[in-house]
Amino acid sequence: LTTNYEEPYRPHLHFTPESQWMNDPNGMVYYEGEYHLFYQYHPDGKEWGPMHWGHAVSEDMLQWKHLPIALEPDDLGMIFSGSAVVDWHDSSGFFGGGHGLVAMYTSADGDFQQQSIAYSLDKGRSWIKYEGNPVIPNPVIKDFRDPKVLWHEPSKKWIMVLAAGQEVMFYTSSNLIEWTYASRFGEGTGAHGGVWECPDLFELQVRDTDETKWVLQVDIGEGAIAGGSGGQYFLGEFDGEQFVEDPSAEDVLWVDYGKDFYATQSFSDIPAQDGRRIWLAWMSNWQYANQVPTDPWRSAMSLPREVSLKRTVRGNVKLIQQPIREVNDLIMNTLMDETIKLNKESSVICKQPERPFIMNFKLKSEELKKVTFSLFHSLNDQKEALTIEVDRKEVSVNRKEMKHSQFHADFPAETIAPIESEREWVTLQLIVDRGSVEVFVNDGEQTMTNLVLPKQNQPFSIVGSSENNELEVECKGHILKSV
Ligand code: FRU
Repeated sequence: LTTNYEEPYRPHLHFTPESQWMNDPNGMVYYEGEYHLFYQYHPDGKEWGPMHWGHAVSEDMLQWKHLPIALEPDDLGMIFSGSAVVDWHDSSGFFGGGHGLVAMYTSADGDFQQQSIAYSLDKGRSWIKYEGNPVIPNPVIKDFRDPKVLWHEPSKKWIMVLAAGQEVMFYTSSNLIEWTYASRFGEGTGAHGGVWECPDLFELQVRDTDETKWVLQVDIGEGAIAGGSGGQYFLGEFDGEQFVEDPSAEDVLWVDYGKDFYATQSFSDIPAQDGRRIWLAWMSNWQYANQVPTDPWRSAMSLPREVSLKRTVRGNVKLIQQPIREVNDLIMNTLMDETIKLNKESSVICKQPERPFIMNFKLKSEELKKVTFSLFHSLNDQKEALTIEVDRKEVSVNRKEMKHSQFHADFPAETIAPIESEREWVTLQLIVDRGSVEVFVNDGEQTMTNLVLPKQNQPFSIVGSSENNELEVECKGHILKSV
């Protein structure tokens, strides 16, 4: 890779463009041994601008190879977010009886947004825009974008879900070219603090049961749980035409409780024998995305996460997110593997490595008052720290004391995720890379993703304290290879 890891905040594990601006992941599809990641890209600047689709491929979703820009703006406008599928049986007629990739994206002439398609005859290396674009003209809706296409086996049809104002709309097709409106969803449910964007739709089995549920994921541009942009999801049934939401105890089901996890998209066409549903997100927030102080690129993707459904101790079905198992292949050596005792006085747990690392903390929740872990704790300057606090009810991640948090008023923040108090153990898994900390609470029942910008070249420690005396904490950490 051409990546220069010496650049301040350049991630070692997370995908970044070599230079310039990136936002949403697009066109994620697995085909002929390669995972494709396209992304919203502005090749001429470090701020959002005329959108292209950048492109990279990988065999393990972690080590990416940059490829030339896949789609450039044209007479219909910029190339906004969208998705890609494998047209296995040439339903489109583009592949002379064979198969290939079809992308569906939004052609955006400012607020005038329509849906277009393009296809590739050479494994995504070059793209031909369909001559009849747009395939779905604008039906006089201002925000009408981000088509996500999937194959629906029971009805033997292509389904497309896209964002329309503060709702989503479903369309169906037999050939990816002619689309019929089927239904809409969203009025009177979910969060409505901003425009809806970047939906995703898939069916998952509830772990250890025969039951399946449909997951409809939808992002909102403002008013998410941690402030600014973020994702929510709905669980329900989908019959190929209509999504019917299950009754839920909670008003809104949030995807991630941090500030920097947006525009999630899952891979299409991961082979059935693998069977996983894997997604990743743009690790930023529209509140300050254009100002994050990195150079010569701006923005990173989250690590890919395996998404599953589980019935929790409370009896409700919940979305679980865990880092893909391929992350374990990056383990270089052990950072720590012991049970320590924490007291009210802060003590050093270990020296914080300069390299990316993964750290697992496990503590008994019975009698738990409050535990505090500080990362980026500088022994030279006591004020710099990322604080993670855990009690029986919630986990918080606070980056207010990180000095480089001050570049934008909305960046310093404490983000909070609820935890299920009936559990015997609380587990935290932290993945720390340059520029970000991803936290997986209780094996992925909750996640919190935040950009974290520490001072450069400092010796940092991980420090802990607890309101319980002699609180036992199992600590297992590993240092990870750069990709
Ligand atoms: C989400 C989004 C999409 C749009 C794209 C434009 O972050 O606003 O709705 O397609 O970014 O870059």
